[in-house]
Amino acid sequence: MRHNDVPMQTKRYLMCPPTYFDVTYRINPWMNPSKPVDTALATAQWERLTEVYRDLGHVVELIEPVEGLPDMVFAANGATVLDGRFLIAKYRYSQRTAEAPAYRDWLVADGLVQVEQPEYINEGQGDYLYDGQRMLAGTGFRTDRLSHGQVQEIFGCPVVSLTLVDPRFYHLDTALAVLGAGQVMYFPAAFSPGSQLVLRRLYPGAIHAGLADALAFGLNALSDGYNVVLPQTATGLIQLLRERGYNPIGVDTSELLKAGGAVKCCTLELLDDRVPSSDLARPSSTARLDIELSQMSTHSLELESPR
Ligand code: ARG
Repeated sequence: MRHNDVPMQTKRYLMCPPTYFDVTYRINPWMNPSKPVDTALATAQWERLTEVYRDLGHVVELIEPVEGLPDMVFAANGATVLDGRFLIAKYRYSQRTAEAPAYRDWLVADGLVQVEQPEYINEGQGDYLYDGQRMLAGTGFRTDRLSHGQVQEIFGCPVVSLTLVDPRFYHLDTALAVLGAGQVMYFPAAFSPGSQLVLRRLYPGAIHAGLADALAFGLNALSDGYNVVLPQTATGLIQLLRERGYNPIGVDTSELLKAGGAVKCCTLELLDDRVPSSDLARPSSTARLDIELSQMSTHSLELESPR
């Protein structure tokens, strides 16, 4: 399916300025605390990313950074969000634990409904990516596989567990990006053999990234169905995306990569664009059904009308 079958959607993103960004500990192979970090440069790169989103017509919401939480810029890890509800993260490493209450408070104040507490370790949209129908769920390094069951039970959408096997690609969003409804790009070797077969079965037409683009964090990308924002050094992927009819937009995230993050890591998708705020206040099962039905009809209307 080409991009013009899947119209660009206006999105709402939550982001955290990298005011206190630094690499002071090592919880993934990209982090080297002895290598200096230029926080001003990281801020300039991050600001450019917010500008790109806003120029595309998306809404960027900001959360106040907290001193002493150098990884808080990676907003994607804060929660898993669907249909106006969220499951807050339970971070694998103690250095990031205190980010969860900050993200929770912001999301609640925004009107999103908090579901039950996380029973198992999960790092939000770092490992949970929604493809429009099902939740792709990473495990192997951060999110506990048992969390996948809780997410399926809470959100009532099918969860597909995918096992990551290469520590350089420790979150699902470092190895796979959703491009639009039912369309993904990924780096096959980051996944276990069984998970590679699952991905082939689910997405026979997917874009496969090569190692160089994966190491450039080209899969740590954010798509609105047409525009795909990704690290500019992922030149092979940029070419492939263009050939498939997408509009790739390269940005410089080199300073953020020193902590093992790039575009998607910095962006928590609120994924509630079409949920009327009146429905958010009543998280009953009937409200959820109304929302699903209204989303389905809006979506099919959009599919019929040209962009
Ligand atoms: N230094 C952070 C960590 O290792 C980077 C998080 C990147 N976030 C992401 N969504 N992949 O936890």
